[in-house]
Amino acid sequence: MIENELRYSPQNKPLAGYDFTSYNAPLFIAWQLNSACNLDCLHCCEEAGEPLPNELTKEEIDTFCQEIVQLQIPYVAISGGEPLLHPDFFAICEFFRSHGISLKAETNGHLIDRQVAKQMAKLGFRSIQISVDGATAQTFEKMRGHGNLQKTLQACQYLTEAGVNTEIVFVPTKFNIHETSRLIDMAYQMGIYGFYTGKIMQVGRAAQNWEILCPSPQDYQKFFVTLEEKAALYDGQMKIYYYPYDVIEELKYRLESPAASLLIIPNGKAKLIGPLPFVCGDLRQHSLAEIWSRYQKAWRHPEVVTFTNNVITNNDLLKEANHWRELSLA
Ligand SMILES: C[S@@+](CC[C@H](N)C(=O)[O-])C[C@H]1O[C@@H](n2cnc3c(N)ncnc32)[C@H](O)[C@@H]1O
Repeated sequence: MIENELRYSPQNKPLAGYDFTSYNAPLFIAWQLNSACNLDCLHCCEEAGEPLPNELTKEEIDTFCQEIVQLQIPYVAISGGEPLLHPDFFAICEFFRSHGISLKAETNGHLIDRQVAKQMAKLGFRSIQISVDGATAQTFEKMRGHGNLQKTLQACQYLTEAGVNTEIVFVPTKFNIHETSRLIDMAYQMGIYGFYTGKIMQVGRAAQNWEILCPSPQDYQKFFVTLEEKAALYDGQMKIYYYPYDVIEELKYRLESPAASLLIIPNGKAKLIGPLPFVCGDLRQHSLAEIWSRYQKAWRHPEVVTFTNNVITNNDLLKEANHWRELSLA
C-alpha cells in the first residue's frame, strides 16, 4: 500500500506524464529490514516470523544506507517482519533523518511505549504507519496471531500525543470488513493523521488462508461506499486513502507503468514488486545504481512479461510470490 501514494493522486488517478525510466535513481525505497516478527498474521504477504538465515549484516546495512544518500533518494519506508525488533532500527532511522531523507516506518506498534513514541517524534518521521486490522479485540486478534488490540491502540495514542504523524493501515477480510466504519471513527477520535486501506492481496499466508479471508464482492461494495462517506465526513480533518484495485489490476498496471521504486528484502535482494517472485539484483553483488538499471530492464524481460500475463489469468500463480526467481539480466 505504501508505494501507491507515489504513483496516484489522492483521487486514485495515475499521474500524467509519468515514466519510471526517466529517473536516474528510484524516488522511493521500500525496505523490509528483517523477517522476524512478534506476531503471526493470518494474511501476512511476506510470511514473516523467523529471521532469514542470511539477512544483511550491520556493515552491509551501513553501505546500503550510504548508497541511498549518495543517490539522493528522497524517501524510504522501513518495514519488516517487525522492524522495531531489529537492533539497528533507530540507528538507521537517525542516519536517514540526519541526511534529510523522508522516512516512514510500518509497524504493528506492539513495541511502542511512551518513550519510543517520543524518540520517534524527535526523529521527525514523515509518518509512522500502524497496522490495525479490526475495531474489536475479537477480529483483530483473529487476524493478528499473538496480537493485542489494546497495545496497538495505546501505541497510536502515545504517537499522536507525542506529535507524530500517525497513520492506520487496515486490511479488510471476510470477518473484519464490517468494522471499517467503527475503526475510522476510532482513528479520528485518536487524532490519527491518515487512514489507509485497500483490497487484501492474495499473496503469502493470505493465499494459503484465502477461503477464511477473502471478502465477498457485496462486502467490498459496501466497504467502498463506507469509505467514500467517511472520506467526505472527515474531509480536511483526517486523510482517508483507499486504493480500489486488487493485486491483479495492480500488476496489469505495473507491467505498463512500473513504479520508480525498489523493494529490498532482508537478505539484500531487490524484488521487482512484492506479488511477483522476480529478483533483479542483490546488494551483495551490485551497487544500488546497478540495481536500479537492472530493475528498469527487468520489467521488459520476457520471463517477467509472460509470467505476469499468466498471473493475470491464473491467480494461483500468486502463490509463487515468495519463491524468489533470480533473473538473468545482461
Ligand atoms: C507485512 S507488514 C510488516 C510491518 C509490521 N510488522 C506490521 O504489521 O505492520 C506491512 C503491512 O502489510 C500489510 N499486509 C500484510 N499482508 C497483506 C496482504 N496479504 N494484503 C494486503 N496487505 C497486507 C500489513 O497488514 C501491514 O500493514
